[in-house]
Amino acid sequence: MNNKTIFFLLLSLVLLPLYAFAATRVGGWSPIKNISDPHIIEVGEFAVSEYTRETKSDLNFVTIVSGESQVVAGMNYRLVITANHTGKSKNYEAIVWEKPWLKSMNLTSFKPV
Ligand SMILES: *[C@@H]1O[C@H](CO)[C@@H](O)[C@H](O)[C@H]1NC(C)=O
Ligand SMILES: *[C@@H]1O[C@H](CO)[C@@H](O)[C@H](O)[C@H]1NC(C)=O
Ligand SMILES: *[C@@H]1O[C@H](CO)[C@@H](O)[C@H](O)[C@H]1NC(C)=O
Repeated sequence: MNNKTIFFLLLSLVLLPLYAFAATRVGGWSPIKNISDPHIIEVGEFAVSEYTRETKSDLNFVTIVSGESQVVAGMNYRLVITANHTGKSKNYEAIVWEKPWLKSMNLTSFKPV
């Protein structure tokens, strides 16, 4: 190997992990610091009411347990929500996609955890 080859080899050894790090940061999920934030509650209530509307099930929002958000075109929220189904509390994981410029939210996924 000549010096140039070694240089590029070393360079890629340095750059690859940096690139991988950057790739996971952009679009990565980060914890929501304050799950008492009224907007987070609103997203959680939306998820439960949307799920109830779509599935005609009897589920009532109780509280948010934890949450993460992800910057996409808008914002993705992945929340662990406690909801009340016929008197029994259960935890669900909901993913909501918010498009603030349209003032609209869409429920991407809702499942028991
Ligand atoms: C979280 O948000 C709620 C409602 O806005 C506020 O009352 C509370 O002080 C906040 N807590 C923290 C730790 O920022
Ligand atoms: C769950 O719902 C039942 C009846 O709908 C109610 O009696 C109970 O207090 C609720 N529990 C919680 C934790 O909200
Ligand atoms: C997103 O939600 C809006 C109403 O909130 C609805 O009109 C639209 O069809 C939904 N889009 C998708 C992809 O579910």
